[in-house]
Amino acid sequence: MHLTRVAALAFGLGRAFATAPASQLLSRDEAELLGRGLAEDVWDEIKDGLSCAGCETLVVLLKGLALLGDNAFVDVLQSVCKLTNSVDEDVCQGAIELEGPIIADAIRNMKVPSQTSKLFCINFLGVCPYPKVTPYQVPFPTEKKAIEGGSSRPAASGKDPIRIVHYSDVHVDHLYTPGSTANCTKPICCRPYTEDDEPGVSTSPAGPNGDHNCDTPVSLEESMYAAINEVAPDAAFVICTGDIVDHTVWNTSVEYNTFSITDAYSRMAASFPLVYGTAGNHEAHPTNAFPPTAEAPTSWVYNLLSTSWSHWIGDAAASSTSSRGSYSVKYPGGNLRVISMNTNTFYVQNYYLYRRVMTLDPDGQIAWLASELDAAEKAGERAYIIGHMPPGDNDAFHDQSNYFDQVVNRYSDTIAAMFFGHTHLDEFHVSYSSYDAQTADTAVAVQYVAPSLTPTSGHPSFRVYVVDPETFAILDAETWIADMADPNFQTTPTWTKFYSAREVYGPDHPAGEELSPAFWHNVTEAFASSPDLLDAYLSRKSRGWEDIACDDACREQEICKLRGGRAEDNCYEPKPGIHFKKRSLESRGHGDDCGVSVLRGAVGSLAVEKKAVELVSARVEENKRLLI
Ligand SMILES: *[C@@H]1O[C@H](CO)[C@@H](O)[C@H](O)[C@H]1NC(C)=O
Ligand SMILES: *[C@@H]1O[C@H](CO)[C@@H](O)[C@H](O)[C@H]1NC(C)=O
Ligand SMILES: *[C@@H]1O[C@H](CO)[C@@H](O)[C@H](O)[C@H]1NC(C)=O
Repeated sequence: MHLTRVAALAFGLGRAFATAPASQLLSRDEAELLGRGLAEDVWDEIKDGLSCAGCETLVVLLKGLALLGDNAFVDVLQSVCKLTNSVDEDVCQGAIELEGPIIADAIRNMKVPSQTSKLFCINFLGVCPYPKVTPYQVPFPTEKKAIEGGSSRPAASGKDPIRIVHYSDVHVDHLYTPGSTANCTKPICCRPYTEDDEPGVSTSPAGPNGDHNCDTPVSLEESMYAAINEVAPDAAFVICTGDIVDHTVWNTSVEYNTFSITDAYSRMAASFPLVYGTAGNHEAHPTNAFPPTAEAPTSWVYNLLSTSWSHWIGDAAASSTSSRGSYSVKYPGGNLRVISMNTNTFYVQNYYLYRRVMTLDPDGQIAWLASELDAAEKAGERAYIIGHMPPGDNDAFHDQSNYFDQVVNRYSDTIAAMFFGHTHLDEFHVSYSSYDAQTADTAVAVQYVAPSLTPTSGHPSFRVYVVDPETFAILDAETWIADMADPNFQTTPTWTKFYSAREVYGPDHPAGEELSPAFWHNVTEAFASSPDLLDAYLSRKSRGWEDIACDDACREQEICKLRGGRAEDNCYEPKPGIHFKKRSLESRGHGDDCGVSVLRGAVGSLAVEKKAVELVSARVEENKRLLI
């Protein structure tokens, strides 16, 4: 929509560039910067540590490159990626070919400096202070009624609890090959990428049921579904918070993703009577690419999810899913509304969102959420919000997280709980009515973040919630795992209860009482006063797989994150070059798992590699006459 017609023709067809659109898209200052041979300037500006201003100069350089066309942009960034040697060449090649044109289009249309260029610098290069949230009051159909004495969470019914299952990030790899190498230099292993990786040849052969360097084999997926039916055969329903497709982001296709998504939801349908699903960022092709309005590139994935879910959610919700990937539906077994959000339109790695003027409420989803919750409130229903990415995560744009939080605060009496995944870790966030005064009294909602099935950041897991059948309040949250260190894991994974939140955090909490927002706030208070408790929590995040060394500053940040139901309050501070790491086989799988972005890594390397800057600037210099 922001691409001029002439530019659309030139770039869409990958043709050589014509002068007119560049002069329209470049401001005078940007053109002037490009006019003075930038390589030395840029490097001088950033070599002693990238500043925000330095980053913005870099963005002007990238804008010059993007104005030369998608092909030039993709080509040069592929070279940058290969130069830095952080991933294999075919990964550079494939991933940047897929992701490149989307961000090239965004950068061409970006004004520097601007809110968008700052967000780009934060999320790609780890510099610039986060811009202040753009003020926006979400329209509420009705105002909140003041409740005497504060919170009005309904009293426990005292009835026999029901159970609800939640799993996330199954990331099933249909090309997982037992016996192929589990030690490789790609984002995921256990595929015979080369002859040396073949079963029978590899010196580190993968077992049949999974490996921490690999995504989920179908056998492990099936094992989890079977375990759920043993552990919770009576579960009222299942929540699946997305990311079905594996992490071979350089090799996705509509066909492969369609196959993978269809296969997973068919297996779930064969295992469970009722599943509420959400759209994960890996469902799209290219990965993460969800335009903020229902444009053609994502309609196939929304239609596919709609078809996969329609027998569970009915026609109206299926139709809503096919138009924007979200739905709201009444649970037939009780007084509960389930609202499934498409959080991909708040995700910092969704490159479609870096628009010249950022869209405040992509697809009108936040206003829609408010209207659904308003209807639930009027009907006296309780509500669950489910989604892929937690709004309190580092990966959420501050603006949309803030607007989402306004809705959570307005309808906190109706929202019984919220469920997310994406981070692969066993976590939670608390939302508050005042982030300046975070207390048990101001805690208004809990974001339950389920750990992943894929074992790349811990043991394979799922959650079982013990739930009040009338209020749908969460009475306990159990995490179940298959311990991969168990010598029998490769023959038959054994699923065991890893911990229960009530047993660990609230042994004295009255039975049958909700693990309320106040309860979870108190858990963070306990963490703050006992480093041992916090360290045990940190270890639980990976289901005991990895002990994270944490000092006082790190503990403080972790607690802030737990209390950061609104992303602007989660204390996350990006660091220059954070997304660019030289490959280290030792640290495999311990990194940033939720979104492997090769392009972001390549751009990130510009902060620290002079040669990478030179590659970009040489191409721009050669073609400068086309730009200015
Ligand atoms: C993985 O492969 C690398 C390089 O081939 C080797 O140095 C390393 O020891 C291997 N690691 C394991 C756990 O086999
Ligand atoms: C890429 O995906 C196709 C299926 O869509 C598969 O046949 C091919 O082996 C995959 N390549 C790699 C390197 O995994
Ligand atoms: C939270 O802690 C406060 C202060 O210790 C206590 O009064 C309150 O009952 C606790 N709330 C819950 C739900 O545990």
